[in-house]
Amino acid sequence: MNHSDQPDSSSRRPRHIAIIMDGNGRWAKARFRPRSIGHHAGARAVSTCIDTCLAEGIEALTLFAFSSENWQRPSEEVGALMQLLLRTLDREVGELHRRGVRLRFIGERSAFAPEIAYRMTQGELLTADNRIMTLNVAMGYGGRWDITHAARALAQDVADGILRPEQIDEARVAAKFPLHDLPEPDLFIRTGGERRISNFLLWHLAYTELYFTDILWPDFDAAALHLALAEFGRRDRRFGMTPEQAHAELKG
Ligand code: IPE
Ligand code: IPE
Ligand code: MG
Repeated sequence: MNHSDQPDSSSRRPRHIAIIMDGNGRWAKARFRPRSIGHHAGARAVSTCIDTCLAEGIEALTLFAFSSENWQRPSEEVGALMQLLLRTLDREVGELHRRGVRLRFIGERSAFAPEIAYRMTQGELLTADNRIMTLNVAMGYGGRWDITHAARALAQDVADGILRPEQIDEARVAAKFPLHDLPEPDLFIRTGGERRISNFLLWHLAYTELYFTDILWPDFDAAALHLALAEFGRRDRRFGMTPEQAHAELKG
């Protein structure tokens, strides 16, 4: 069976999209501007991306905004990113709430200044009951950090006597991740031209469709996202099964 025989392949939509928003620095450099200008332009692209995902009825969007390794960048750049985060939170959280978006942050929160951590938690509490779309912002996040935390939580359960080691299976590991209540990402997008995962969602991307584009994040607009969605609609997802099995599952 080829792609054209698949049921409604063009109308298949990802339920969950995960994006590495890369290329802000190069966008600024191309304009002879400081990197922070690229990050500001990147913040505007975030708004456009959220608008488009809401319009497309996407259930969950996970954005990689700042990795555990990004703390190593020069302190001026980290400081500028933190200021931008604070201002963006102050400006956007109310609007996200009004639009029914549930906001969550994933990553090592204790590494952030108390005023930032406080606003993150406030944004989560305010929007906790919203169900139109879940927006996960990965800040101070690393896939290895996530897996390490899950391992520690499982070890704690064993130490507390509520779990035996032989009971640990994939479902129990998955349940320890902060994204446990969402479908796994169907579509991964990385802008900026690099073809790597850079310690993003290591566990969750096991069967995600990977899409790489050379477009720099500040230029990633609605048309660019629609191109990615169209490409996703043409992908043949099999999850290790034969094409016939996989397509029967899709129909069923
Ligand atoms: C992504 O853009 C934003 C963050 C990592 C915070 P970069 O800052 O990595 O931009 P490039 O890759 O240097 O162009
Ligand atoms: C990945 O981009 C992290 C974010 C976009 C937040 P990086 O620019 O940090 O990744 P590398 O260094 O090119 O792998
Ligand atoms: Mg980069």
